[in-house]
Amino acid sequence: MKEKIISTKIEVLSYDELSAQDKDLIDKAKEATATAYTPYSKFHVGAALLLSNGEIVTGSNQENAAFPSGTCAERTTIYYAHARYPEASFDTLAIAAFSNGHFQASPISPCGACRQAILEYETLFNKNIRILLYGENEIYLLDGIKSLLPLCFSEF
Ligand code: THU
Repeated sequence: MKEKIISTKIEVLSYDELSAQDKDLIDKAKEATATAYTPYSKFHVGAALLLSNGEIVTGSNQENAAFPSGTCAERTTIYYAHARYPEASFDTLAIAAFSNGHFQASPISPCGACRQAILEYETLFNKNIRILLYGENEIYLLDGIKSLLPLCFSEF
């Protein structure tokens, strides 16, 4: 029997260790949590995406009485970004979550469907998307979505 071990590199950083640009993205992801529409979960997620043209697009989760019809912050953001700026590749995506009156102490990570959706744009532009996951205590930096989606299904 052979065995394969797949590992993921995560840089663990404090806010002060981030570049000015990454700080700005985290700030905007945090701000975007205020626009979440979450009457059901009360879990407010915000995302901010830096594009290759320098634009920053933000978004938040939008829920629906028919639960599967709701959309996570990540997909709200990346779908709008590509609809608005179809020529621009994705550089860095920051994600933050707020609930019960405070930002999450530990980073939250995109759900499986969002990971697959993010992968689509890595594949489209043939460029890794940096991902910043915000927590009050620590911030994770990933150098691409494949860090969160090993053995991913990509082009067919
Ligand atoms: N949610 C996001 O927007 N992004 C994530 O990464 C995880 C979960 C949303 C979906 C739903 O509106 C709420 O958070 C609770 O699951």
